[in-house]
Amino acid sequence: MGLKSRFSEMSESSKSSTPTTAVPPVARLPLHVAVIMDGNGRWARSRGLPRVAGHRRGVEAVRELVSACGEKGIRYLTLFAFSSENWRRPETEVRLLLQLFGVALDKEVKKLHENNIRFRVIGDLSAFGEKLVERIRQGEALTRDNSALTLTIAANYGGRWDISQACRELARQAVAGTLDPESITADSLEPYLSMSKIPEPDLFIRTGGEQRVSNFMLWQLAYTELYFTPVLWPDFDRSQFEAALVSYAGRQRRFGHTGEQIEAAASGSTGKRA
Ligand code: IPE
Ligand code: IPE
Ligand code: MG
Repeated sequence: MGLKSRFSEMSESSKSSTPTTAVPPVARLPLHVAVIMDGNGRWARSRGLPRVAGHRRGVEAVRELVSACGEKGIRYLTLFAFSSENWRRPETEVRLLLQLFGVALDKEVKKLHENNIRFRVIGDLSAFGEKLVERIRQGEALTRDNSALTLTIAANYGGRWDISQACRELARQAVAGTLDPESITADSLEPYLSMSKIPEPDLFIRTGGEQRVSNFMLWQLAYTELYFTPVLWPDFDRSQFEAALVSYAGRQRRFGHTGEQIEAAASGSTGKRA
């Protein structure tokens, strides 16, 4: 199949799933942005404040990024709020983070709904209290049919957890005799991953200076463009976001093809000879 037809095939299929083997349409604006919001603690400590003050300011940075994404027409924003490893932090910090999450949930969901934003939470919610889970589910139900932006919050989330729970589901089916293990491919796992039906991130941003993925969306980041900035999360404003978008727009995504094939497809030839 020519590269050009794969481009058009992908633009159709990207609505429901995004196999990494296909080439997404050329786009200067990412469809899906995923962010590790790191550096809250250091932001606070450098001001002589308790770490939680950084987390509070971090919520404001989230608000600003959500509205910037809405204005720009970005369709999916996924934010890492609490990792499965963050339980290792001091108990008081964990408690404050969960409290802050609950408060933000109560304050923001209505506003998200007014702005036609769909809200979702992914992660192992079994560790959270029943009441918090119920508020999450209510927020998801309220905003389910909104279409401007899908905001996914990853809470008690880990990429390894996500892949393991999807594998567990396939194993159940194999044991029940409804799935032949020999037929399992990467696509078999996709429907059971927590980001199922959402295109893979085009752009990954990590603030705070660390250049690592810290167990975030391990499966989905396979071909995502990575952007690291030393800016601490509470300082990540619109102009910082613009800089990330400019960096993204200047990249050539090849997905295993040659640069010549990609250029040929973009200029309308089939790219077969590249
Ligand atoms: C990110 O900021 C927020 C969470 C992990 C919840 P940090 O709290 O990790 O900030 P630093 O990395 O210690 O500065
Ligand atoms: C990643 O940040 C998790 C979140 C931003 C929620 P961490 O600060 O926990 O990551 P490490 O420990 O430095 O890798
Ligand atoms: Mg950190």
